[in-house]
Amino acid sequence: MSLNMPISRRLFVSGAAAVAAGPLLVRGNSLPAGAFSLGVASGDPLPDGVVLWTRLAPAGGSMPDRPVPVEWEIAEDEHFRRNRRHGVVTAVPAFAHSVHVDVRGLRPDAVYHYRFRAGGQQSPVGRTRTAPAERARPGHLRFAFASCQDYQAGFYTAYQHLTREDLAFVAFLGDYIYESAANPGAARQHEGTGEPYSLAEYRNRHARYKTDPDLQAAHAAFPWVVTFDDHEIDNNWADEIPQDPDLQTPEAFRARRVAAFQAYYEHMPLRRSSLPRGLDMQVYRRLRFGSLAGLHVVDTRQYRSDQPATLAAAQDPALTMTGPEQERWLVRGLETSETRWNLLANQVMWAQNDRQAGPAQSFDFDNWDGYRAQRRRLLERFGSGRVANPVVLTGDRHCTWVADLRPDFDDPSAPVVGAEITGTSITSGGNPDVAAFHAAYDPIMAESPHWRYIDNQRGYVVCDVTRSAMTSSLRIVDTVWAQSASVRTAAKFVVEAGRPGIAEVTQEPATLAARRWEGPRFEVHDDENAFPLR
Ligand SMILES: [Fe+2]
Repeated sequence: MSLNMPISRRLFVSGAAAVAAGPLLVRGNSLPAGAFSLGVASGDPLPDGVVLWTRLAPAGGSMPDRPVPVEWEIAEDEHFRRNRRHGVVTAVPAFAHSVHVDVRGLRPDAVYHYRFRAGGQQSPVGRTRTAPAERARPGHLRFAFASCQDYQAGFYTAYQHLTREDLAFVAFLGDYIYESAANPGAARQHEGTGEPYSLAEYRNRHARYKTDPDLQAAHAAFPWVVTFDDHEIDNNWADEIPQDPDLQTPEAFRARRVAAFQAYYEHMPLRRSSLPRGLDMQVYRRLRFGSLAGLHVVDTRQYRSDQPATLAAAQDPALTMTGPEQERWLVRGLETSETRWNLLANQVMWAQNDRQAGPAQSFDFDNWDGYRAQRRRLLERFGSGRVANPVVLTGDRHCTWVADLRPDFDDPSAPVVGAEITGTSITSGGNPDVAAFHAAYDPIMAESPHWRYIDNQRGYVVCDVTRSAMTSSLRIVDTVWAQSASVRTAAKFVVEAGRPGIAEVTQEPATLAARRWEGPRFEVHDDENAFPLR
């Protein structure tokens, strides 16, 4: 947590002079080298503001156990001259010397540069961008979404390319860290041997991820809008229920959730409204990009019912993915957004996802397939005529899965009410076996008319939103098992305004499609079970 303090001109003149002159800064001096080893980030852009983040975590030693003043500055140019704003916040040990500055008074739809100073050291410069004014009518919005960046599964080659895109923001849809244990056969190793349970262990896991230079560059290039899924805490957790209730007592899991939430807040560019309170952390929220697009960020973990065990149980109307309060918030927000497009930053798949060919069916009940009555209720709202152009953006699946959404997926005569674009993963799942994936899933796709495109390679999705259409480009890297990779657009998915569902899928020529990876192979612990259940 950072405590905002009014800035005194006497203490903060400009540039390096202030570092020598300010008594506050002299007192806060001398930190071990590499204080900004975790990089910088910004997030949740508003028309007049953005959150700036860093955490003091010296590469060359540990932080002193006392509050440390941190200067921040932001300006429209990289020399920090035009429309500069600045201040001092205090990074405190209780929040791992993390800093969250909610800067306001900025110009809408403008690029800014920002940096921090502490203990005589200066952070790298980050670049960010505010949202268009609420009443503005921008003709174009380009952003990217990504998810699932298991550190052990591979290198962040996708972020090398994402950083070079021209984006208003990045939406991250969950599995920012994985709580998994060490895997000596993996492409690279994170810290520790077992799963994190304590605050110190979750902090170390987050810090290890944040040391990655490609991830740091992607944060420094654009504001991010983040939400968590399961692996930030525990695989497939649901509200106060862990993955394995036989192994974690309710008290132990609640303590684990508190620790994981605090570490998550400490490492993300979140606004103070997301500061954890007791067992809870408010992450569902809305952002708006003029009259063009609303982004409804949902939380499908913290308030959900435990996963059902059978298809019959999955029909229970009492089961909820969001909790009643968030469901009301979502419906109200969708129906009153006044934006051309309504985008959901969502974790797990909405579209029905049978994983068995032939008449038998099997489902992953951690997805919306396990919460069918609520899904139907919400999709009927999508089709009510009161929600403008809903498109669900999804993570979790470690595959690309593009689908038309229908209130009843088993009834081909049910109306299409929206589109879902499930993006692939940054690394999770490692390098794919494309042929085996298609051998397994193409027969199921033939029985699933709402599936419009499937693929299991690594990458991210870039979305171009205009008043008439939303075009999503699937950007695929050729490897995550090397330090660098090339990228290509494997497919594009068009949604037309006023016409629910996927209007058009264009795929790259087969000659450009993925070749089998011929380099070294690594072990992958893929929780997502990309292959059909047998
Ligand atoms: Fe994942």
